[in-house]
Amino acid sequence: MTDRRHEIESLLVEGRSFPPVADAVHVRGMEAYRALAAEAKADPGTFWGRLARELHWTKPFGHVVGAPPPAVTWFADGETNLCANALDRHVAAGRGDHTAILWEGEPGEVVRWSFRRLLEETCRFAAVLTSLGVRCGDRVAIYLPLVPEAAAAMLACARIGAVHTVIFGGFSAPAVRGRVEDAGACVVVTADGGWRRGKEVPLKPAVDEAVAGLACVRHVLVVRRTGSEVAWTPGRDRWWHEERAHAPSFVPAASLPAEHPLFILYTSGTTGKPKGILHTTGGYMVGTWATARWVFDLRPDDVFWCTADVGWVTGHSYVVYGILLNGVTTVMYEGAPAHPAPDRFWSLVARHRVTVLYTAPTAIRAFMRLGDAWPQRHDLSSLRLLGSVGEPINPEAWAWYRRVIGGDRCPIVDTWWQTETGMILVSPLPGATPTRPGSATLPLPGIEAAVVDAHGKEVPDGAGGLLVLRRPWPAMMRTLWRDDARHREVYWDRFSRPGAPVYLTGDGAVRDPKDGYLRILGRVDDVLNVSGHRLSTMEVESALVGHDAVAEAACVARPDPTTGEAVCAFVTLKQGQSPSEGLRDALRHRVEHEIGKFARPADVRFTDALPKTRSGKIMRRLLRDVAAGREVAGDTSTLEDYSVLARLREEEE
Ligand code: PRX
Repeated sequence: MTDRRHEIESLLVEGRSFPPVADAVHVRGMEAYRALAAEAKADPGTFWGRLARELHWTKPFGHVVGAPPPAVTWFADGETNLCANALDRHVAAGRGDHTAILWEGEPGEVVRWSFRRLLEETCRFAAVLTSLGVRCGDRVAIYLPLVPEAAAAMLACARIGAVHTVIFGGFSAPAVRGRVEDAGACVVVTADGGWRRGKEVPLKPAVDEAVAGLACVRHVLVVRRTGSEVAWTPGRDRWWHEERAHAPSFVPAASLPAEHPLFILYTSGTTGKPKGILHTTGGYMVGTWATARWVFDLRPDDVFWCTADVGWVTGHSYVVYGILLNGVTTVMYEGAPAHPAPDRFWSLVARHRVTVLYTAPTAIRAFMRLGDAWPQRHDLSSLRLLGSVGEPINPEAWAWYRRVIGGDRCPIVDTWWQTETGMILVSPLPGATPTRPGSATLPLPGIEAAVVDAHGKEVPDGAGGLLVLRRPWPAMMRTLWRDDARHREVYWDRFSRPGAPVYLTGDGAVRDPKDGYLRILGRVDDVLNVSGHRLSTMEVESALVGHDAVAEAACVARPDPTTGEAVCAFVTLKQGQSPSEGLRDALRHRVEHEIGKFARPADVRFTDALPKTRSGKIMRRLLRDVAAGREVAGDTSTLEDYSVLARLREEEE
């Protein structure tokens, strides 16, 4: 990792600083931030308890933080309902007519659902799921395009205590199958298809393939979106619009223990098998609600647009839950960012008077490349705040985002967090924190971050190391679905001591000696970050090795100007097989088929052998250098066969 870290660091030496805004409503000024942080540090129970009591509990909690992690609990003796807090609470407060979801389909249709309407649709979904046999604690898989029904289906699960697992619509049938099977989902909610770059992305056929022969799946509930013909399995398959027609518009929200499971979201780890991150009700609710309010400084009339898909954690926490919990309008856009023209995003911002835009560095870089003229065609004056998430943002993109999109007026919140953390943990607060390009700045109140060496010892400020978290926070993952041993091993065992739990993030970071600002350097394990999507090298390697011609495969990241990182696959072939363009295409296609298009390797390089240590471990560090076209740096004394490296270099030339 050392070589990569230096490379990132050198790009990020940055001195510019921008002051906080004067008109913030929630946390105003550095002193206010410090006071919150000090309160949270001194007495976390009182701090988080006070925040939690601003939401509605059907049974008040007595305890705030329970056992120490990994077996942590929050508000454990309390009961609540997240859906009721996100919807019913606002309707009861007289905001039923306020827009909850402002949706735009790729072909251009616009739909506004008020909080009342979203509550009705959610109740209908809840009633239909119940009629299909879904009970409290059962798992429901949601594999939909970004349509309002996706939010309603998630909220409906939360309403009745079913556990949703949302699967990104870009995943292929085998990836869907793995997730549905692991979760043991009894119902899959899908659509005929969705729109992307003017073409239909069929979803129902993928579900048909994915669930064939899976005993756990009893029903497939199909939303009609594109209107195209779909194959039908009578008895199993139901149309949403038909079921909806006779479903009641209100069903009561279940009173659920705070630790009742809310959702499982699969994410990549360092092995081939995706991890089912489990989040629970009360802590996740409080965490996403509070952080949305702090970081985005939310106001009642905001039009908040997080461009993520609900298939990722960003979509869970800041398209749906955190934003609706705050009673704020959330924008959903179904399609591709540059369709039909490169100004689609900017036209959307202008037409809907979006006030907060929260997107990913990969999108910002892509827009930057398309030129200033596209955003300049539109009136972006409604924007007051910009957010970034998913990967380190390079200062050049940061500066462009601020100048061209934010009109030098809007602060940028570079928010660091993970599927596992559930909520934002490190970010500027727009009214308190001076920002600096490329820096996620300071931990939020209640979060204790440290940078440590390989032995868990804190490194001096200014030196790079591993980012760890030393205090529990409410929205943290509780476990890995059906694999608590792996949960402990991956996140907790390495540095925790009795009475002093330490959560390992898997990211590198460096703390600035001047002001304590954190700069996140990216992953230190074998997880890639392509366009803000986490991908395990092992997952891609398994897909490649599954091809008949392949003997061995190793995937590494190489820097890519738009996607941040791109997948570079090194492949050795079985005896009697020879490299060809056709095979290269077939391998790329195989990854697309097994995982999804977003995982397709940018480069596939054939080689006679892979560089290995004496103990047989593939030396990824060397492959990374080769992939990036760099001189191979660092120690190669353990390399088994030096000639392998020489050959890889030659093949490149
Ligand atoms: O490496 C970090 C990177 O994304 C990882 C988490 O990925 P995922 O669970 O898919 O969640 C993405 C959205 C929260 C982190 O371990 N990452 C996320 N945000 C940032 C980031 N890296 C640098 N800066 C960020 N703001």
